[in-house]
Amino acid sequence: MSCLIAVDPRHPSGDALAEAARVLRKGGLVAFPTETVYGLGALALDERALARVYEAKGRPRHHPLIAHVESEAQARALARSWPETAARLASAFWPGPLTLIVERAAHVPAAVSGGASSIAVRVPSHPGARALRAVLGEPLAAPSANRYQGLSPTTAAHVAKELGDCIELVLDGGPCDAGIESTVVDVRGGAPRVLRPGAVGLEALTAFAPDLHMIHPHPAAGETRASPGMDARHYAPRALLLLAPTCDEAVTMARSLAEREGRPVGLVVREAGVGEGVPGLVKKTLPGEASDYARLLFATLHELDDEGVCAIVVQAVPDEPAWWAVADRLARGSTAER
Ligand code: TXA
Ligand code: MG
Repeated sequence: MSCLIAVDPRHPSGDALAEAARVLRKGGLVAFPTETVYGLGALALDERALARVYEAKGRPRHHPLIAHVESEAQARALARSWPETAARLASAFWPGPLTLIVERAAHVPAAVSGGASSIAVRVPSHPGARALRAVLGEPLAAPSANRYQGLSPTTAAHVAKELGDCIELVLDGGPCDAGIESTVVDVRGGAPRVLRPGAVGLEALTAFAPDLHMIHPHPAAGETRASPGMDARHYAPRALLLLAPTCDEAVTMARSLAEREGRPVGLVVREAGVGEGVPGLVKKTLPGEASDYARLLFATLHELDDEGVCAIVVQAVPDEPAWWAVADRLARGSTAER
């Protein structure tokens, strides 16, 4: 089992950071909190450390990782070119939950990008993540600290549950603020394209990139995906995740599933006072505001998995820009491709 060190997320102790840096410099793996979800850190320029990330996550080798850097200047040093859009978005949103895809510089190992000629870079805003990177002094590969296709972790306990046996250290800085991953934007030539909606809202992005394109996450048969992270099944709980158009339909669907299966079923709605007292239902009420909902979504799905439900029925979220990141995660978590 990996070692877990509690840290003050605003002011992590020098000892904890020094220990994490020591593990990382030896090619080890350290999970740490960011403003989005917990990251699985490894030296971004060390091929052996990168190989361990893929192994720990059970992630296919062609699926690229994100590199955390300290500044726009350090991001540029990993890139072959730095388009004007990258500069504009970096100065508007860094440090923060925005990941930019640019061309990868020749000296950066292809493994960080799953062999692709591009690289994903971001400057996190979380003080603990920044302090760790500063002590380390070099770029840190940091995909979400979960097994391939599973739920992202928003607490250290989520990380320990899934990866505790295959990483050296977890820095526990409490629950993550955003609770949903960074927004990924490809800025290589032409109009910038959103490959993954995330913690930076699309309306905020559009203010700085009016020509922004949204890529449809589920391409037609035969088309290639713009980003391997857009695989249809992703962000999924162990239990079968089902979406119901309305709250009433969610209750009905969950109740009949629980009766039919004779096992508990999770119900996730945004309205209090529904589905109470129905046998076999484990009900969670999430907030009606999109960013509050996002903060709690993965933790709620983790909890329901831990409670051993056989299925989770979720009331669909509004079809509005503020909800796109949440809707995207629910759609992929609920895909039938299992
Ligand atoms: O919020 C986040 O971004 C978290 C924190 C820990 O930084 N990290 C994270 O990493 O979510 P990961 O590896 O779980 O997701 C990275 C996403 C994936 O969808 C991946 O396919 C995409 O970014 N991506 C990374 N490099 C890419 C590239 N070169 N081209 C296209 N997509 C890329
Ligand atoms: Mg991930």
